[in-house]
Amino acid sequence: FQHFEVKNVALRAGDRLKIKGEILPNADRFNIDLGYDADDLALHFNPRFHDDTDGAVLVCNSRTAGCWGKEKRDIYNPLEQGTHVKIQLKLEGDTFEVELPDGSTVNFPNRVGMDVINYIRVAGDFKITSFKIC
Ligand code: GAL
Repeated sequence: FQHFEVKNVALRAGDRLKIKGEILPNADRFNIDLGYDADDLALHFNPRFHDDTDGAVLVCNSRTAGCWGKEKRDIYNPLEQGTHVKIQLKLEGDTFEVELPDGSTVNFPNRVGMDVINYIRVAGDFKITSFKIC
């Protein structure tokens, strides 16, 4: 189980995160989280490959004081297990845009109104090979 954390950063609107890595061959799920700490997330981007309800699905959510908000689910999941991918996350202030390897994008509103992202985490069935803030 991979677990990559960055603390004490300050990402703001206009900043981008480029993450490259491998979705493990038998991946069940992985997540990229942006927030203040593990309990307070503005974005939990969570691709799943075997979700009980939807199978392959892109789940997004926010988390406040340890409680999950309402999930947003995109049934179109272009990610493939066992592939090397580049995923870009753009902070646009009122929204987060996640760009996937096929060029499609997923948007999630900054519903908790977090202006500064201090904490980044990548966890689950994903092996990071490169990580860049720009
Ligand atoms: C839960 C899951 C969490 C998180 C959340 C997102 O069911 O246990 O890890 O993915 O959904 O809404």
